[in-house]
Amino acid sequence: VVHASESVSDQTSSRELLVDLTGVGRGRLAAELERSLREAIRSGRLRPGVRLPSTRSLAVDLGVSRSVVVEAYDQLAAEGYLATRPGAAARVSDLSAAGPGGGAGGGSAPVPRSSGGRPAPPTRPAPTPVGAADPALSPARPGEVDLRPGSPDLAGLPRATYARAVRRALATLTDAELGYGDPRGLPRLREALADYLGRVRGAVVDPGDLVVVNGFAQGLVVVSRLLAGLGVGAAVVEDPGSFHTSGHLAAQGVAPAPVPVDAEGLDVGAIGPGLRAALVTPAHQFPTGAVLSPDRRRRLVEWAERVDGLVVEDDYDAEYRYDHHPVGAVQGMAPGRVVLGGSTSKTLAPGLRLGWLAVPPALSADAAGHKRHIDIMAPVLEQAALAELLASGAYERHIRRSRARYRGLRDVVVEVLAAELPGAVVRGTSAGLHLLVETPGVGDEAAAVAEAARRGVRVVGIGPHRHRAGPAGFVLGYGHLPEPALRRALATLAAVVRGAAG
Ligand SMILES: Cc1ncc(COP(=O)(O)O)c(C=O)c1O
Repeated sequence: VVHASESVSDQTSSRELLVDLTGVGRGRLAAELERSLREAIRSGRLRPGVRLPSTRSLAVDLGVSRSVVVEAYDQLAAEGYLATRPGAAARVSDLSAAGPGGGAGGGSAPVPRSSGGRPAPPTRPAPTPVGAADPALSPARPGEVDLRPGSPDLAGLPRATYARAVRRALATLTDAELGYGDPRGLPRLREALADYLGRVRGAVVDPGDLVVVNGFAQGLVVVSRLLAGLGVGAAVVEDPGSFHTSGHLAAQGVAPAPVPVDAEGLDVGAIGPGLRAALVTPAHQFPTGAVLSPDRRRRLVEWAERVDGLVVEDDYDAEYRYDHHPVGAVQGMAPGRVVLGGSTSKTLAPGLRLGWLAVPPALSADAAGHKRHIDIMAPVLEQAALAELLASGAYERHIRRSRARYRGLRDVVVEVLAAELPGAVVRGTSAGLHLLVETPGVGDEAAAVAEAARRGVRVVGIGPHRHRAGPAGFVLGYGHLPEPALRRALATLAAVVRGAAG
């Protein structure tokens, strides 16, 4: 055990880190080191600005290879906990402005019920009028190949495992649990989720602050009502960004205020005055595939603190990162400022309509109240089944297996596009269930979409997800298709693109 001294000065020695890796399996060393350091930073035991030992000396002191320490430092830097520069010691980032939750950081800053300034007007109205059919959600016709994003491999749902979980759920639900219950959801599911989100997403979640919802879409209804209660009438949305999620906000009366996204994710510095809420996809931006950079993560949290606002983190397909293990949730840096939303739509199936919100403690009772007024609570059998899957490890096993498959399919898309459309640009990190391919030569994206449909391939352009003009392109979902069908559909799309480009 490396022992700690109570006060940590500017330079820590390995002894002061209080990290103990004895008994940790080789494959888990980096993850365990990373977890210990993250915890020490969050709790305030490692203070902002403190220099960490060099990777070499810490490796020697802990008796592990240097690559273990490098991996842990890299991950924490990617998540914004550490600031690193080549040739300089890694330093603990300043999260204090963000009001880190838990421990010595002073707890979560509540979001008071002031109405704040008038929100900036949106630069364009709701992208999808309420009541209009959504072309991206209508089912593909028989014989069509569907390249639209949004679905995992539904044929891969582990039905036998799920059936066992449902059977066990039925056997273990008490009579009382079959009645009207806590609007936040079944306690056993919230406990399993809090554990999972802490372990896998680096989130700081108390089961009491979780609300089980019918997919992230319903989570956005709850969020919209929270915002209304705070007097917030507009929310930053990413541009380009999901027209589904901004549409859900708009339908609830929260005006989307688009802010540009670049290769580092949301350009936080471009958020205009008067705004106090932001809906973001930090883990894998939809649709560009960018991962929110460490600097932007810090700025986002600082912005939320400065404007006394709220970040809504859509943890969209965060489970699937192919080059690296997933970057932790921004929520872990500022649990008092971030609502973390997730669902089983990209891990199991969208039709299950199961999701969750981890809500800042100051707002969680209100969130539970809104859920109660929407539909009392989420269906209990599904909740108990998901609790079973989480507790047995079957959920994570399924994700691991799916990840390998999706990674292979993503590689196929990149390979086919490189061969068939050398002028096209594939955007985004190697992650998730979709990628954006920009095809600047295409003059009329909508016409290309229609032509692809005529040839039996359903695609969506990036146009509907844009608020400002930008290059033409297509948001391709690949996780749900068998490889041969995927290859054929991509070849057809490439032919359409070449034709459209003249
Ligand atoms: C970026 C993004 N996040 C979340 C969702 C909603 O997911 P859920 O099925 O959990 O409601 C969508 C759905 O279209 C989406 O585009």
